Amino acid sequence: MARKMFEPSKVVLRSVCVLMLLGRMCQAVRTDIFKHAMTTVTITNGLGEALTVHCKSKDDDLGVQVINPNLNWSFSFRPNAIFLNTLFFCRFAWSNQQHSFDIYDEERDLDGCGKLCLWSILPVGPTQYNDKSKKYDIFYPWNPPALQKRPLREP
Ligand SMILES: *[C@@H]1O[C@H](CO)[C@@H](O)[C@H](O)[C@H]1NC(C)=O
Repeated sequence: MARKMFEPSKVVLRSVCVLMLLGRMCQAVRTDIFKHAMTTVTITNGLGEALTVHCKSKDDDLGVQVINPNLNWSFSFRPNAIFLNTLFFCRFAWSNQQHSFDIYDEERDLDGCGKLCLWSILPVGPTQYNDKSKKYDIFYPWNPPALQKRPLREP
């Protein structure tokens, strides 16, 4: 009698376990299908003097980084596979210069640089690595002044 009374609760417990397991599995599948492969952005300092970089996305603040001349700094993330709207925005500062640039713009870069996006910051601006010439020779303008402030506060 007592044994029978325990059985329904065991069934409930088992069902809960199965549901939790399914939930976990679904979560794992969901994060996989909603995200692209891990992507790395590498920023090399091509200035000849220390470069201060502060990058952010809507969800992440990557903190203030100081990159010494000819050295680099990288970060990795998984771009959004559904909305294709992953954006990392950085402020760059050295000497008396301050600029900002969208270092990863999923719309521009998903096919443009793939899983490894290499940038060098030169006095003229950001340059992207060219797989064909094996050089940093794809020049981009800094963000226009209207976009300089988003979405960062002063470092
Ligand atoms: C970044 O720096 C490391 C260590 O100095 C170096 O091995 C690597 O080749 C650099 N990466 C790029 C993309 O320049």
